[in-house]
Amino acid sequence: MLDKVENRKRAANVTPFTTTCKSRQGEPQTFLIDVMTDEQISQTYDMICAAAQRGQGFGVDEYSDESEFRADIDDGYRFVVIDKDDGEMVAAFILAISKYSRGCPVADPFIIVKDNQRGRGLGKLCMDLCVDLAAKLGFMGMYVDTFSNNTAMLKIIKAVPGLQQVGCLPMGGVMTNGEMVGTVIFYKDLRPDNSSYKG
Ligand SMILES: CC(C)(COP(=O)(O)OP(=O)(O)OC[C@H]1O[C@@H](n2cnc3c(N)ncnc32)[C@H](O)[C@@H]1OP(=O)(O)O)[C@@H](O)C(=O)NCCC(=O)NCCS
Repeated sequence: MLDKVENRKRAANVTPFTTTCKSRQGEPQTFLIDVMTDEQISQTYDMICAAAQRGQGFGVDEYSDESEFRADIDDGYRFVVIDKDDGEMVAAFILAISKYSRGCPVADPFIIVKDNQRGRGLGKLCMDLCVDLAAKLGFMGMYVDTFSNNTAMLKIIKAVPGLQQVGCLPMGGVMTNGEMVGTVIFYKDLRPDNSSYKG
């Protein structure tokens, strides 16, 4: 796989750019997509910890500390979504390198939307950007897994053309209340000519 320095350069080549998503009032709102700063990595970690504590998308024991999170995403591509009006970071997404496709460049996206910004299409926007940027960055495919209780994420995933369910695990993670949930697994072939993929 590409080295980290090369990855940083490639991420910088595809950003920054702006895109639109509807506001709570339904008006188009502009967002800046850029690479994550060091401080934003910490903010993203805090958002993930808060989500994990509420059983939202991340397991209670997902990371023991920030250094473990940083190590996990170190060789991936890290992006932020910034509200152009006030400069606030409203969401983050990471194209980590999938651990399940050894030697093949397959992206494993992490998406997190700030809790006061959810339900207005930002999660879907992040997923669409993950697919688009993963293809631009040369990934051959995308592996996505999500807890079976993550209704919003499942809706987002199922709306992506070509992202097919390829499996599920009965024991995916543990919630704060000790409840165990399953994981649903999806894959999308990103190669320009994917006719050889049998699904
Ligand atoms: C999952 C997450 C990224 C979704 O982001 P979001 O901005 O709230 O999602 P969107 O507004 O794009 O909504 C996507 C769809 O889910 C639906 N939805 C949103 N929140 C929902 C909820 N709590 N329950 C059920 N459906 C929900 C929306 O109505 C929309 O469906 P539609 O396309 O049929 O209208 C966000 O909730 C989050 O950051 N959660 C914590 C972290 C996480 O779970 N990350 C993913 C790990 S795999």
